[in-house]
Formats: sequence, structure tokens, C-alpha cells
Amino acid sequence: MSNQPFLPYGRQWVDEADIAAVVEVLRGDFLTTGPAVGQFEQRLAAATGASHAVACNSGTSALHMMYAAMGVGQGDEIITSPLTFAATANAAHYLGASVKFVDVTPDTGNLDPALIAAAVTPRTKLIVPVDFGGHPADYDAIHAVAAAHNLPVAADAAHSLGGSYHGRPVGTLATATEVSLHPVKPITTAEGGAVLTSDAGIAERAARFRTHGITRDPALLSSDEGPWFYEQIELGFNYRLTDVQAALGSSQLAKLGAFIARRQAIAARYHEALADLTAVELPTERAGVKSGWHLYALRVRDAARRRPLFERLRELGLGVQVHYLPVYRHPWYRANGYADVTCPNADDYYAREISLPVFPRMTDAEQDSAIERIRQAVTELL
Ligand SMILES: Cc1ncc(COP(=O)(O)O)c(C=O)c1O
Repeated sequence: MSNQPFLPYGRQWVDEADIAAVVEVLRGDFLTTGPAVGQFEQRLAAATGASHAVACNSGTSALHMMYAAMGVGQGDEIITSPLTFAATANAAHYLGASVKFVDVTPDTGNLDPALIAAAVTPRTKLIVPVDFGGHPADYDAIHAVAAAHNLPVAADAAHSLGGSYHGRPVGTLATATEVSLHPVKPITTAEGGAVLTSDAGIAERAARFRTHGITRDPALLSSDEGPWFYEQIELGFNYRLTDVQAALGSSQLAKLGAFIARRQAIAARYHEALADLTAVELPTERAGVKSGWHLYALRVRDAARRRPLFERLRELGLGVQVHYLPVYRHPWYRANGYADVTCPNADDYYAREISLPVFPRMTDAEQDSAIERIRQAVTELL
């Protein structure tokens, strides 16, 4: 084992201002959804350029709300990338829909727009790009295919809040966008997520789905029985965020720009320090794209050497991770109709990938020590 500090691949940065914001809510009247949630939603929308933010208790819930609000239902299909956390696909299955996995481009690991058209069927309801590692997908090309087939685009931006694509911020790149507020993500509410959209109907349906499908809107009620009256008009869930979490979210949001700038600086230092290691391939950022650098995804050129390198980095105290086993390879997917699916680029990406530590709180000294350990392991093993 190394006696150098353990560095995880990602972690939150909670400071005294965040703690004070949470304590203030704890001393007040509202613990669960109250004014802090509405305030956080307004700030999140303003920060991303969306007209509406509907906050909820996880990114997974946000995906479920978003798909439901965009009309995904029994027998429908969504098109998405297999190089993602299972939640992107699971949320379609929650609604009785299924997934057409479309392969990724080798440079970014994002959905390949050129392969989407072949996956469209009469049952396709939604195209869902995933901004892998924080790098926004190729939205212009994806929208072109989507428009040709009259399909909406919904983004899984769990990794990319704070990023942009040709000057347009994440949150405005699709009809609706899901973000995750888990601790390793750009900002955190512990668990949490949100749907961002400029479509008022989607926002309204997502918000209703978040609270059991219940409405108090007089225009939607079947009768007027009094000021207490509400009705459940569809099947929904309890996916509410709490005020305690929303206070943390608002406080964290004020630092989003600084967090992303720090992630970019860390990525730039890795690029420079590892550029001469020919046995590994470094992640790229396409022209015009600002990645949120949620992940720094290294790829070993020889897939057979990934495991020894991973194990050595762990021995040296680096909490490296691998992102992601292509979703269709999970046993549940194999047992539920996806056993024959393969996407060669996603398989190759997975086979060679190792995510290095990248989180805003990592100091230059910590990164220097990570770089030293990475160079040592690569030189020893590759
Ligand atoms: C790409 C992607 N989508 C969705 C999610 C789900 O987010 P959450 O963990 O907040 O439910 C994650 C979480 O890791 C993710 O990485």
C-alpha cells in the first residue's frame, strides 16, 4: 500500500457556507419541500438558461419524471447510449418502454449521430444523448436526425451541468435535460436531481409526477369541493427534494462556475503531465465544446493491460474507477431482451477505460502526487 494520500475519483466539496445554509433551514419551519426548493429551482433555471427547473430526489427520479412528462409509455422505445449508468435505460423500463442502444464515437464516448437513423422505428419516442464524462454530446447533429424523424431530444446531463456546446449551456441543448446532484457530480444536494426545460407543459407534468400525480389546479379538477380539495389524476411518485437539500443546492450552485473552472484546470494539468505516455490515450474536448470534466477518462491502448494498471493504481492509493460496463451487458439486461446487443465502440471504450481522480477540491500538490503515481504505474506495467 502507498503511504501517500488516498484520492478518490470524485468527491464533493462542502464548505462552511454550505453548512450554514443547511443549518438555517434546520432551524426553520420547513424540512421537506418548502420555499428553499422553489428558490433553488429558480436559481438553477437562471444558471442554465432553462425557463423551468423541477428539482427532485435523484437524477434517476429526474429521468423517470422527464421520460414520463415527454410521453414515454408502454411499448415505446427510446434511443440512447450504452456507455452510461444503468439509470438512463432503467427509467425507460420503469414506464414499460424499452431501449435501442446506439453506439458511441471513439473520441468522446458519446452517442454517434450517424448511427441514430438506423435505430429509429415506429415505436421510437425519444432520443436521449448522454454527456459522457461531462462532455456535451453532438447536439447539432443529433437534432438534425431528430428533426428528420420528428422526434424530441431529452438529454442525460447527469455529468455535464456547467458545460456548454458552441456557447450554449447545458440545460438549453435539448427539449428537456436531466441533471444529477449526487456528491460526485458538478454540484450536490447529497442525493438529488432536476429536470430543466423551457417547455411549460413538460415542467408541469414532471412536477405532478414528482408528487403522486396530484393536482390542485382548478382547471384540472373534476369538481370544486372546497379550498382543501386536490385530486390524483395520474399515477405518480414521491420524488420530492427537501428544503434541507435545496439549501445545500443553492449554496453549491453559487460555486458551480468556480468548480468547473477548477475541473478544467485539473484536466489541463493531466493533459500536460501525461502527454508523453504513449501506452495510454488521453480524453479529448471537441472544438467549441466546454466539458464539465466530471471524469478524466484515460484509455489504455492495450485492453489486456487495463486490469493490471487499475489494480496497481489502487495499490498506490488512487481511487480510480471504470466507466461504464455497457448497459446491455448487465445481467438484468441480458435476461430481458438485450442478450444479442453489441456496440463495438462502447465495448472497446469500456475495455480500456480508467477514470482518474478529478474533483474541485483536489489541490495541485495532491494532483502532482497522483500524476507521479500514474506515471510510475504506467512505466512499470505498460
Ligand atoms: C449518466 C448518469 N445518468 C443518471 C444517473 C443517475 O443519477 P442519480 O445517481 O442522481 O440517481 C447517473 C448517476 O451516476 C449517471 O452517471
